[in-house]
Amino acid sequence: MLNRILIIDDEKLIRESLSHLLTGAGYQVDLAADGAQAKQLFTQHTYDLALIDLRLPDCNGIELLKIFKTAVPDQGPMCIMMTAYGSVDSAVQAMKHGAYDYINKPFKSKEILLIVKLALEAGGLKREVRQIIKTQAKKYNINNMIAVDPLMIKTFEVVKKVAANRDVSVLIQGESGTGKELIAKSLHYLSSRAAKPFVSINCASIPGNLLESELFGYERGAFTDAKSRKHGLLEKAEGGTVFLDEIGDMEPSLQAKLLRVLEESRFRRLGSVSDITIDVRFVSATNQILEKLIEKGTFREDLYYRLKVINITIPPLRERKQDIEVLLKYFIDHFNSKLNRQVKGVSPGALSLLQQYRWPGNIRELKNTIERIMILEDDEIITEEHLPLEVISSSREKGKYGVFLPREYDIRQGIDFNGLVKSFSSYLIEEAMKIAGGNKAKTARLLSMDRGTLRYQIKKLGIEEEVFDQE
Ligand SMILES: Nc1ncnc2c1ncn2[C@@H]1O[C@H](COP(=O)(O)OP(=O)(O)OP(=O)(O)O)[C@@H](O)[C@H]1O
Ligand SMILES: [Mg+2]
Repeated sequence: MLNRILIIDDEKLIRESLSHLLTGAGYQVDLAADGAQAKQLFTQHTYDLALIDLRLPDCNGIELLKIFKTAVPDQGPMCIMMTAYGSVDSAVQAMKHGAYDYINKPFKSKEILLIVKLALEAGGLKREVRQIIKTQAKKYNINNMIAVDPLMIKTFEVVKKVAANRDVSVLIQGESGTGKELIAKSLHYLSSRAAKPFVSINCASIPGNLLESELFGYERGAFTDAKSRKHGLLEKAEGGTVFLDEIGDMEPSLQAKLLRVLEESRFRRLGSVSDITIDVRFVSATNQILEKLIEKGTFREDLYYRLKVINITIPPLRERKQDIEVLLKYFIDHFNSKLNRQVKGVSPGALSLLQQYRWPGNIRELKNTIERIMILEDDEIITEEHLPLEVISSSREKGKYGVFLPREYDIRQGIDFNGLVKSFSSYLIEEAMKIAGGNKAKTARLLSMDRGTLRYQIKKLGIEEEVFDQE
């Protein structure tokens, strides 16, 4: 598509010579002799670029510039101001209001063509960046996070609110694979920092002194190996978000330095004598309980409070079992399109096993499990026999005495001992009676007890014997 240019100048000769020049260079051109005409054309067409005379009969060129630049924020045409007076002041003012450049009259054809070309290229780049941000934002949109659990829904609300505030520090806590990084990215891409970098640093995978130079950078000669200046990640993130993953593993000496950055928005490259001011948002994440690390003395309490101005805690998957079903649907859809499969769903038996499993690796483990099954198995329905051993065996997991406590009970929360013993005894007797077809002698034999004890138990437990009588 041809780039469309609007030329606004009250001098007919200039309009026409520019029109001739730019049409000849392959652009589509419209002409306006004053502000009113320009405004009208602007509402009718979409322009990639406008050449605006600073002095117009009915208005100031800067007024037009402001209208063009603010009509649809970030999406107006690239604007080049033309001035016959070489007045630097108004040119500077124009740049402040978003003009790409200015040019003094009289100008040479070559000069105009070059500046127009550069401006259009810059505009194209801007559009591309906007497009990339849009796709990224879509990918890391909070809407891609699946949950029905009320606590999770509330967390998503918090994420949206916190994203709108561009400065507040956020600490995300949760077990491995619960979606901490996904939330950190949503915070970035939903915020006004989206066009700037999202810089992620894993504090656990880099040794302490290296982490320090990664974060802060260094000057040439700061230490033996510092052959040239290196910019730190903090600088590279300027305007954007710094994601400090596994913050619990950061060494105390570095924690002190990080605290200063958080407090003062300033830091120093290693070996430097001057500060660099930065504008970044800090989002940190950990799968450790930081309070415990503070008690142990390996994590600074003051840093903890600085990092967790907003605290987001993601519950483990086993504590939000109803999420498992929706996540399964979501991942099956996802891998159906990725792997070109037509898997329909999960059998009730498999679902129940998947819901009973502890998911130590949380959503990442669930996602990987589904992917593996969908790569290896050809069936349209995922059933029990497709499930990995750990999922199947966990539901049959037996304690020391050969029995297990059903998952809905948790001794830490307190259990009804008598009630549980009673229902387990009833279950054993009823099962044996079913097998024995109601025959007491046989039932007693199956249970290795004498008939008297069986009679006593049946009475005590209130078991209805008739049900098991042989027809
Ligand atoms: N609610 C969710 N809906 C859909 N996908 C999710 C959800 N939560 C996490 N995921 C997916 O699960 C995987 C793990 O998430 P992520 O990497 O964010 O976890 P994490 O908490 O950072 O883990 P770790 O502590 O191991 O670094 C990713 O593929 C992510 O896209
Ligand atoms: Mg992570």
